[in-house]
Amino acid sequence: MSASQGNRRKQIVVAITGATGATLGINLLIALRHLNVETHLIMSKWAESTIKYETDYHPSNVKALADHVYNINDMAAPISSGSFHTDGMIIVPCSMKTLAAISSGLCNDLISRAADVMLKERRKLVLVTRETPLSDIHLRNMLSVSRSGAIIFPPVPAFYIKPSSVEDLVNQSVGRMLDLFNLDTGTFERWSGWEKD
Ligand SMILES: Cc1cc2nc3c(=O)[nH]c(=O)nc-3n(C[C@H](O)[C@H](O)[C@H](O)COP(=O)(O)O)c2cc1C
Repeated sequence: MSASQGNRRKQIVVAITGATGATLGINLLIALRHLNVETHLIMSKWAESTIKYETDYHPSNVKALADHVYNINDMAAPISSGSFHTDGMIIVPCSMKTLAAISSGLCNDLISRAADVMLKERRKLVLVTRETPLSDIHLRNMLSVSRSGAIIFPPVPAFYIKPSSVEDLVNQSVGRMLDLFNLDTGTFERWSGWEKD
């Protein structure tokens, strides 16, 4: 590894799709900014709709949280190639449609192409898959991408943190996602055994 590589900021590709839970993607981008990680953002058309519907953000404000933003149809973006080095990718939230595209190797937009690159280059790929209940098709696709090296991280709440707000649950979930990239947000309680009276 060259000296410049040794000193470079961590670079993570973040994709937001149109599954419910846009706040998870937004809070992840905020956490990565605090951690001084360089972010490369792709947003699907339906992500823009859920951001507007579910949060107080406009998509342009979300884009402003990232260092680099790509159009989902820009297949010539740097992150479309394995020769552009990154430390991994997280799709948060990840719809069943995007999961299916990754599972089949479709590469029909920049999100599924960048994810395909992560798998072929053996880089970290985390899918925050959001749907309930799950059909055989969803489960099969999750197993298939997991066997190809992706990490499936459904945003399932941990009630042992005794959350007093949705924000507590989101922080804990985002913190556990970033643990997978060896990044510590320091913003949530970790389990340390039963509390003593
Ligand atoms: C309010 C809303 C919530 C949605 N929630 C989910 C969801 O949780 N999971 C899912 O797979 N699709 C969900 N969808 C459907 C996706 O947006 C749709 O399948 C879309 O084509 C996904 O495309 P994308 O992966 O390119 O964003 C939702 C749609 C809307 C409008």
